[in-house]
Amino acid sequence: MSEQHAPEEHLFRPAAPVRMGANLSAQEIEQARAWFADNPEGFWEQAAKELQWNEPWHTVCDDGDPPTWFAGAKCNIVHNCLDRHVHSANRNKLALVWESEAGETRKWTYFELSREVNRLAAGLRRLGFQAGSVFVLCLPPLPETVALSLAIAKIGAVQSHVFVGYAAKVLRARIAALQAECVVCADGFARNGSVVGLKEIVDTALDSPEGDSVELTIVVPRLGIKQSLRTDRDLAYDDVLHPVHGNEPTTALDSDHILFVQYTSGTTGTPKGVVHTHGGYMVALNRTMNWVLDIKATDILWCQADLGWITGQSYALWGPLLAGSTTMLYEGHPLYPKADRIWRIVEKAGVSILYTTPTLMRMVKRYGPGFPAQHDLSALRLLAAVGEPLAPEVWLWWHEHIGQGQCPLLNTWWQTETGAIVISPLPANTLKPGSVGRPLPGIQAAVVDPEGTPVPANTTGHLVLYGSWPGFFNGLFREHDQSFAGYWSPSQKTYWTGDLARQDADGHLWILGRQDEVLNIAGHILGATEIENGLLVHPGVHEVAVVPVPDKIRGQAAKAYVVLKEPHQAGDALKTALTELVRQELGPVVRIKDIVFVETLPKTGSGKILRRALRDSPPA
Ligand code: WTA
Repeated sequence: MSEQHAPEEHLFRPAAPVRMGANLSAQEIEQARAWFADNPEGFWEQAAKELQWNEPWHTVCDDGDPPTWFAGAKCNIVHNCLDRHVHSANRNKLALVWESEAGETRKWTYFELSREVNRLAAGLRRLGFQAGSVFVLCLPPLPETVALSLAIAKIGAVQSHVFVGYAAKVLRARIAALQAECVVCADGFARNGSVVGLKEIVDTALDSPEGDSVELTIVVPRLGIKQSLRTDRDLAYDDVLHPVHGNEPTTALDSDHILFVQYTSGTTGTPKGVVHTHGGYMVALNRTMNWVLDIKATDILWCQADLGWITGQSYALWGPLLAGSTTMLYEGHPLYPKADRIWRIVEKAGVSILYTTPTLMRMVKRYGPGFPAQHDLSALRLLAAVGEPLAPEVWLWWHEHIGQGQCPLLNTWWQTETGAIVISPLPANTLKPGSVGRPLPGIQAAVVDPEGTPVPANTTGHLVLYGSWPGFFNGLFREHDQSFAGYWSPSQKTYWTGDLARQDADGHLWILGRQDEVLNIAGHILGATEIENGLLVHPGVHEVAVVPVPDKIRGQAAKAYVVLKEPHQAGDALKTALTELVRQELGPVVRIKDIVFVETLPKTGSGKILRRALRDSPPA
């Protein structure tokens, strides 16, 4: 089995300005770990005190199943994302910058956003919505989307963003599971140069018995698509706005009041409605904004994930506003109409933190260094990735060509269930390309065998998290009895993440992928990712997915689906070269039985490679 620790030449020590300027210095990181070990509740209590509360908690963590953080406290995340900024020096600072695919831009200050949110919240209340009402949002990332999210949370209602790329069938299932009373959508949006008629999809979803719970649809007139609103159900966005003089009150809620329900992306099965609450979520998220993304007053953060995924929720919407920084919203494909679009946006807006995904990073790499080189990327000071294993080859390329060897590139690990980043290097840390670093101060993780016993260093096992932390999800929506079945073992206070990992001798973690994406080749357990990383070393390979196939002698063997870069040609010579490469990289035990060259790989909506689809129904 391959040893995964970075050789000396692959260690990246932060440059002096990064080290000196980080919100948490290397020394403070160690102090924070010691503090948490000594007094975990005091540690999180301090984090909570960095935000404002209507009433204090009587217990930091009430150890139930699920645990309740900041029990007894009253709060509202919107007070912290908006109200307090409007009464501070941030009042006239940009809360958001928006750009459409066609190149239009809009900018709202905290004051302007707050004015819109007040009018929306007043309008929603007049329509009869209140704490506990359930909204489904199916919206591209617009300034109005942010305002609606905040207005819904301001009155204590529950929201669930659904990815705009879904068909009516998925939307219908979400509406039914949530028993939503209101659906908010845009008439349409543009992506990759074509118009998507969102309202039609919503109407199809609602014109079925599953849509019965919905009393109202609010339509944001994004494209001005000519269509008649249905008098029995539809209301235009502008007709919701209600004049307000001064502040519309923000409802003070219990700390564990539901903020949103986020469905998981489902690489491994049926999506689950993960619940996050006002109090704990905001505390955990705020911590990671400060410590991991190292947010400063001057930053513009562009998190490229759609708001239909947890990454977009946490780091394009709630996180940057909690921190009083500026969020960059881009409504379009980052490589449209040309591969330099992403860099045009960075240059024009002065994006300083870019939070992206390995899928997009691979695409950018495929187009070569010419595109980023045409633009002034000097405003960028921090790069981060999440969602899938990040191959060292891709890390190294981005570090050199995008980060100019200067920006920390953080490979962050977390899940919908964890709410915020839980494992990541911090900017003042030495970086190992491919590794996700160590658990953040405040988080306890381990790599264990199936019985829960920690395995020795450099051995593959299951990644678990111990205890609770404020961002930990509060169960599954409307499934009270089985919320934790399968992942939470109350007796051990252990959360099973479903990922396989390995910890090196320095305590750095290496993620090998989901546990159902492993291969057992002659008794050697390998993550599909490990073999894929070996193949990605070849300059002709753009993307690859490895799945197990039965093998009479070894039990299982590896089959690779490979997408090539131009001008590399598929053929037997390349197959032999790739097979040989994997032997060299991973050892002779890892034999690739079959290589299939394909045009594209199947992906989930959030861009993760769907190995399950290739395994269960291989393309003809
Ligand atoms: C995977 C996204 C490798 C992992 C925030 C996890 C990663 C799942 C990484 C959660 C990473 C996330 N390296 N794999 N840095 N980050 N993953 O719920 O398998 O959409 O369990 O949350 O993505 O996906 P989810």
